[in-house]
Amino acid sequence: MKIGVYGGSFNPPHTGHALAAAELIRKLELDKLLIIPAADPPHKQLAEGSPGPLERLALCRAAFAGIPGAELCDMELRRAGKSYTVDTLAQLREQYPEDELILVMGTDMFLSFSQWYQPERIARLASLAVMRRDESAGTWEKVRSQAEAYRENLGARVTEVENRCVEISSTTVRRMLAFGAPCCLAPEAETMILRNGWYQTGGSLRGLPYESLRERALALHDEKRRAHVLGTAETAEGLARRWGEDPDAARRAGILHDITKALGPKEQLHICEKYAMMLTDMQRANPKLLHAKTGAVVAREVFGESPAVFDAIWWHTTGRAGMTTLEKILYIADYMEPNRDFPGVERLRALVEEDLDAAVYAGLEQSVGHLRSLKREIDPDSLKAWNYYGKSTERRLEP
Ligand SMILES: [Fe+2]
Ligand SMILES: [Fe+2]
Repeated sequence: MKIGVYGGSFNPPHTGHALAAAELIRKLELDKLLIIPAADPPHKQLAEGSPGPLERLALCRAAFAGIPGAELCDMELRRAGKSYTVDTLAQLREQYPEDELILVMGTDMFLSFSQWYQPERIARLASLAVMRRDESAGTWEKVRSQAEAYRENLGARVTEVENRCVEISSTTVRRMLAFGAPCCLAPEAETMILRNGWYQTGGSLRGLPYESLRERALALHDEKRRAHVLGTAETAEGLARRWGEDPDAARRAGILHDITKALGPKEQLHICEKYAMMLTDMQRANPKLLHAKTGAVVAREVFGESPAVFDAIWWHTTGRAGMTTLEKILYIADYMEPNRDFPGVERLRALVEEDLDAAVYAGLEQSVGHLRSLKREIDPDSLKAWNYYGKSTERRLEP
């Protein structure tokens, strides 16, 4: 028999995994594909709100149901301690002494294969099949040269599987669940998750004190964006004290303002649909601007934030004519938080202590000027804001 071995944390298993499984069976002409959820993956910590191993097994049962040839295997869940692939393969080899074992993996795992625990022994126990997940030609080139190196140094047998790319990850699926807009899940798996409140779906994010809100929000952000949102929250809090606004509302708006920014355009639109948001054509066409709108809705609906915080997040990328103090504070804090570095940022930091409107105008002037130089369309709200603050600032500067 030709047996594929497909391991992973499957946290949660989604339609991308199911599609990959079906394609692997077909393209590698497998007699069966063993789906092996890891108990305690050696390379990563499971995310906040994740269900336990047996629950993940039940989710896998739902996710892979109906794929002929896919067979669930709880071997790693029953074994104590870390899940090492080499132990799993050794156990499978005993169970299937005469059969061909093919270990399947994504490109990212494949590229780090030589750093796994006992790669030579793995290569002796099974051949490797690498699935295409990343469409970029550069990555595939790397896979090819790495495959050559593994053949030479580890005696590995490597097959490349050019399966269709599904641009979804478990991280995105968990975010969408936390944001109240589940996607890419088998219906039964989705029901199970929602019924049990896994992945922070149990209304557990509403009205948190700031310290917990910060922790939860940071966990939902991309790592590279954490410093920016922390900087924005701290700057907004300081500006609120300076300009007589509520410092708590300001830091809450700061920590949540980019909460949906890591999502792709499809997921942004899915949130809009889920919360019945009205969009202009321009917003639809500019997912970069859309994150302010979806972020505001998530702040209100999922984190239970106030209308003032909602508005501040809603307007944080475009600004608008006649902004509230909190809206101005978030707009400018996002622009000049300590991680920002552009010519004139120091001048802006000094100006905002003296004149909030003038600082907002300076920010608008720079964004509008930048978009104009790129000959890009400018959001009508930004234009109105630019006019409004241009005039009001001039008026104030007149004797
Ligand atoms: Fe933003
Ligand atoms: Fe931001």
